[in-house]
Amino acid sequence: MLSLRNGLICVLGGTGFLGRRIVRRLRDHGHTVRIASRHPQRTRSPITDERLQSIRTDIGDETSLAAALTGTQGVVNAVSLYVERGNTTFRSVHVEGAARVARQARRGGVERLIHVSGIGADPGSDSSPMRRSCVRRSCSVPTTPFSTRR
Ligand SMILES: NC(=O)c1ccc[n+]([C@@H]2O[C@H](COP(=O)([O-])OP(=O)(O)OC[C@H]3O[C@@H](n4cnc5c(N)ncnc54)[C@H](OP(=O)(O)O)[C@@H]3O)[C@@H](O)[C@H]2O)c1
Repeated sequence: MLSLRNGLICVLGGTGFLGRRIVRRLRDHGHTVRIASRHPQRTRSPITDERLQSIRTDIGDETSLAAALTGTQGVVNAVSLYVERGNTTFRSVHVEGAARVARQARRGGVERLIHVSGIGADPGSDSSPMRRSCVRRSCSVPTTPFSTRR
């Protein structure tokens, strides 16, 4: 768990498969959690818990991202994309979006950033189909201003 004195944590992609579980764990550990996604209304159950907040955010949009991160101590990026569509590509979400999150987190003074990735942060790791596809497009995980732990 984040050692953040039970402060406000933003979970980007907090309505997703993994994000919902992260939200639950953080809440159960006493954190106030801001659930951020493009369709926050798609949460499985209505938000009645006073320790849960919800905000509409697109990691492709600096302004909405900055709003989601305002006042947060920690950020978990659990945004995902499994199928590319139009301008929404593995690169735009897993590389450019991730870099945008890191930049905004740094700018907003966020203490801890956890980035979840299925494309593989380690070039030597076993390759998932998504990562192979991304690597074929010469993507790389962005170097963030935060230290990396695997
Ligand atoms: N599921 C697994 O078993 C598994 C295993 C290993 C690793 N992972 C990794 O865990 C992460 C999350 O995967 P997941 O399976 O939980 O994905 P998911 O169920 O598809 O959820 C994706 C989340 O991201 C949000 N999202 C997508 N595009 C967004 C955008 N542009 N801006 C803001 N929010 C956006 C979605 O909500 P909206 O569509 O409403 O925006 C949703 O909340 C990924 O990095 C994945 O590779 C997952």
